[in-house]
Order: sequence, then C-alpha cells, then structure tokens
Amino acid sequence: MTHNKNILQDSHGRDHAYLRISLIERCNLRCSYCMPEEGVPLSPKSHLMTYEEIYEIAKTFVKHGVTKIRLTGGEPLIRKDIPVILGKLATLPVELSITSNAVIIDKFMDVLKVNGVKKINISLDSLDREKFKHITRRDQFDIVYKNLLLLVEKDFHVKVNVVLMKGFNDNEIIDFINLTENLPISVRFIEFMPFDGNKWDMGKMVSYAEVMEYVNASFSKVQIERLQDAANDTSKNYKILGYKGSFAIISSVTNPFCDSCNRLRLTANGQLKNCLFSSTESDLLTTLREGKPIEPIIQKAVLAKLKIRGGMDTLEKLQEPKLHTNNRTMITIGG
Ligand code: 5AD
Ligand code: SF4
Repeated sequence: MTHNKNILQDSHGRDHAYLRISLIERCNLRCSYCMPEEGVPLSPKSHLMTYEEIYEIAKTFVKHGVTKIRLTGGEPLIRKDIPVILGKLATLPVELSITSNAVIIDKFMDVLKVNGVKKINISLDSLDREKFKHITRRDQFDIVYKNLLLLVEKDFHVKVNVVLMKGFNDNEIIDFINLTENLPISVRFIEFMPFDGNKWDMGKMVSYAEVMEYVNASFSKVQIERLQDAANDTSKNYKILGYKGSFAIISSVTNPFCDSCNRLRLTANGQLKNCLFSSTESDLLTTLREGKPIEPIIQKAVLAKLKIRGGMDTLEKLQEPKLHTNNRTMITIGG
C-alpha cells in the first residue's frame, strides 16, 4: 500500500475535493427510481449525525482538501435544523450547494442566500402533471415548477435533473431542451441507474446515444453546440445556439466518468461511501462519538476506492442484481 500524505488521494491518483453529505433519509416525494413504494427502513434518530457532528466531520474533510460540499437527502430541506446546518457549514472555506426536489424550497430563499448557496440542483422528471404524479407518487408538479421559476428569478444557478426512463419521459427530451430557450438553466438528462429497490433494468434506460438521436432529429447540426465540460464534470454539456440555457447528459451507465471522479459521500448516519456504487461503507460517526480520530478511517476508505463504478466495470456486471442490491437504496445515498 502506498503512503500518501494526502489522505484524500486514492490508489488511482484521484484527489477528492468534493464531499456530498446526505442530511436525512426521508423525503416528501416517493420517486420510484429512488425508493420502493413501501418506503425504506429508516435509521433510528440517534444513529443520524447531529448538526454538530456534520460540522465536525465536514471540518476534517476541509482540512484535508475538500473545497466543495453539496447537501443531499432524501430531501435535505425537510430536516428541521437545516438553517443551522447551513449556517455552520457556511463558516468553512467551501463552495456550498444543495440538491432538492424543490417542493418547499420557496420557504428557504433567504437562508440559502445568506449562507452563500448559489448552485441548486433540482429533480424534475416530467413537465406533465400526471406523469410527475405517477413517478413521484405525489401531486406536486405545480409547486415544483413554480419554484423552479422562482429560483431562476432569484438568480440561483439552477440545474434540473431529469432521470430518463424509456416509454415514460423520453418523449419529453425536446420539451425539456426547449425550456432552456428562455431560462438560463442547465437541464441534465441522467441515465437510469441500478440501485437496491428501484426495479432497474437495462431496457428502461435511455442512453446518451439515444438522447443525441432525439436532439439530432429536432435540431440542425449548426444549432447544436458542444460546450467545454468543467474539470471533474460528470456531464457532457451542449447548448442550442441562441438559447439562454444549456443541456447535458450524465452517462453513468454507458460512458462512466470514473477517471476524473473527485467525489466522496457521507450518509445521514455517518457512513463514508467512496463511490455511489460501492457496497461497502466506513463508519465515521461511531469513531467520532468514541472521541477517536476519523482520519485513519477516511484514508483507508479512500485507498480502497475501486477504479470504476464500485467494481461494476462492465455493463454485464451492472446488470448482475447481486452486485447492486448490496448497495443502498438511492434515497439513503442521496445521489
Ligand atoms: N438513476 C439515476 N439518477 C437517479 N437519481 C436518483 N435515483 C436515480 C437513479 N436510479 C438522481 C435524481 C436526483 C438525484 C439526487 O439523483 O435525479 O435528482
Ligand atoms: Fe425524494 Fe429525490 Fe428520491 Fe425523489 S429522487 S424520492 S425527490 S430523494
């Protein structure tokens, strides 16, 4: 085993400057690709990180080089102490961002602004109210759409996550791109990924190549501009000439971007996941509660990070249920 001074560098030379923290396992929606209808077993409250513990763990990561923190869930905004959490994390020298379903985000405009949150990713899988209701199992389309417009009006940098599912919302790809004509947002089409309890099958996934077929059928070559992707970007970015916004494809299934991965994940119950697809976790919270240093556990977890998709390096392995049902449900990972 190599000895790194930098505990956030893995054995493939990747540096991890980006920490995603899940604040809560619960959600006010029930998206079928994220969780089973009957819900998921929840951790007892005493097993969840308090805001002090979140801050302590985040501080340790920042000390070792994390510069970006994104808060996720479940739905992070339904955590009662979210203003306190934001306030504490805002004192760290990091770019703070959040992923939300936007159902109640209108109540948080000020607290997000005051704490320097500029980038907000929201989940919206259909522009059709009935379909939205079907996929989220809740009738909240109108408020989510209104809140999307409100976020833009308040000058937040908004990305809209669309998980594509064949025969369900692939016929809305162009409608979503047309939203970017007048809205300065980035719509991100995400290939449907397998997680425990989400009834994944390859046939439901809409691939990067298929998205581009829709795009090429609706726009001429000169209208479609390939943008420069940012370093460590998970998405391939495009723009329709003259449109205010842009669109992108996140192709975790057909074109994984693991080579440039800089992300680590902390679950609401204090487990470090070195990859979205990893089936192993490292318990930081118990060690923290015992008053012991968490750095050795972080370093070990980072060094154990596999090169591609938690070891599911081929499409065949991704389709092997045994390999991804050891993982968590998405709702308890946080995306
Ligand atoms: N496949 C792809 N993306 C998913 N998300 C949740 N579950 C899945 C899945 N099975 C994405 C949603 C949400 C983000 C947190 O994770 O787009 O916005
Ligand atoms: Fe909630 Fe997001 Fe999961 Fe939907 S995808 S159930 S909004 S956490």
